Amino acid sequence: MFPCVIWFIGLSGSGKTTLSDALFEKLKQKYSSTLIKKLDGDLLRNGLNNNLGFSLEDRTENIRRSVEVAKLFYETGFVVLASFITPTHQNQQLLTDIFDKKRGALFKIFIDCPLEICEQRDVKGLYKKARTGAIKEFTGISSPFEKPSSSEVDLIIDSSKLTINESIVLILDKLEEKGFLQ
Ligand code: PPS
Ligand code: MG
Repeated sequence: MFPCVIWFIGLSGSGKTTLSDALFEKLKQKYSSTLIKKLDGDLLRNGLNNNLGFSLEDRTENIRRSVEVAKLFYETGFVVLASFITPTHQNQQLLTDIFDKKRGALFKIFIDCPLEICEQRDVKGLYKKARTGAIKEFTGISSPFEKPSSSEVDLIIDSSKLTINESIVLILDKLEEKGFLQ
């Protein structure tokens, strides 16, 4: 498999990390010699980005640093699986601006799961805290999430309708179509 950056965009609880983990396992199985790096908002915010909060300004800086890291791994030959909310059109555009879309190796995947479903899932209990005001500036509740349109991303996956396996098939089809699988 050829190096690329697969960037998952979506609300908290939409399934970014889950799909990234499942794709990681699938790719490891099928392309055992491929170097794969997972980058996840939650994890980077514990280290490199631990001085950043959730204001729109800090989120932009979080995305800027994270895409620069993704680019470094890509340039070293990795397939990068990146999961970040990437909430605004400006953030989503920043990916393309920094990574340089002309290389054709950036795949933006929007995990389009309705807010109500993410909130029902509430895997980490964060939506409940956001509703009571215990967490400020929570995406979709008290901080914006601007949905990318289909022309702005390579793939849209509705994780409330598709299974994990069905979603992985769509991603692999897209990678195949673009000539990244071998
Ligand atoms: S962003 O918007 O792209 O900079 O966010 P990201 O780096 O992906 O971090 C999202 C994870 O941080 C946790 N968390 C919050 N998310 C959104 N808003 C607020 N206020 C917030 N506070 C903490 C949460 O676990 C997110 O992880 P995911 O995987 O998206 O649920
Ligand atoms: Mg996650």
